Amino acid sequence: TQVYFNGRWVAPEQAQVSVFDRGFLFGDGVYEVIPVFAGRSFGLMEHIDRLGRSLAAIDIREPLERHEWIAIIERLVRDCPSPDVSIYIQVTRGTAPKRDHAYPNPPVAATVLASASPMAALSETIRREGARAITVPDLRWARCDIKSVNLLPNIMARQQAVAAGASEAILVRDGMALEGAASNLFAVIDGALHTAPLGPHILGGITRQKLLEMLRAQGQLAVVESAIPLDRLFDASEVFVTSSTRDLLPITRIDERPVGDGRIGPVWTTLNRDFQQMKT
Ligand code: PDD
Repeated sequence: TQVYFNGRWVAPEQAQVSVFDRGFLFGDGVYEVIPVFAGRSFGLMEHIDRLGRSLAAIDIREPLERHEWIAIIERLVRDCPSPDVSIYIQVTRGTAPKRDHAYPNPPVAATVLASASPMAALSETIRREGARAITVPDLRWARCDIKSVNLLPNIMARQQAVAAGASEAILVRDGMALEGAASNLFAVIDGALHTAPLGPHILGGITRQKLLEMLRAQGQLAVVESAIPLDRLFDASEVFVTSSTRDLLPITRIDERPVGDGRIGPVWTTLNRDFQQMKT
């Protein structure tokens, strides 16, 4: 299927950026991943808003208007044969005639890509038993709230997880477990659900936001928005991570230690059921 590239619809192999694109040279760009379940996008407005915030944070003028983003995403969803899709959007500062760290002056046109790919299904083992995670030092910068394409620390952390046979790496800064390499982190401790607060040290996930909204509306489970000390994480009865591509993923082992009794727990089971219901 075709991709949207700088105002045109082309075959993926025809969407080619210049070697002088600032995304390629500097990682000077931002992105979004928007989930589509059973042909319907989830949190679309929130994702477009976050894209706007990421662009504003690095002074790139929003290249398209909201209705244009929506039309592009609708077409990608329509064209993708799979019912569960992940939409990828990337905007870079564009192609400048010479390599200079400072922004090109006058500004150049942003490079814009939007594409769709089928959502990867979870393995049967993970569905049944939950996933494993490892903990690693958080090597990222002080603006993790910007969804930047500079993902080297995230890549290194995730690769360490994969090498250890785990699905996610939990990033630890100053003794606090903040989030996953590409997900937000939740832990059930003494019956309350803990997650790191919004701020520069995490990406404000849309799945996180939607889950917290649901929980507030339900008013049953206590939510504590404060960073989780690493030793408290190991006291948790349940841990899970959230993201657009992995939904609510239960973590049943961290660094070879079982979480709670090492099985998928009742809090996750209930929340996940309610969350899936909310999406449809
Ligand atoms: N990543 N934290 C980080 C560092 C992330 O990269 C992501 C998402 C999240 C969860 O955000 P959301 O619920 O909006 O997907 C949290 C995407 C999926 C990615 O990089 O592929």
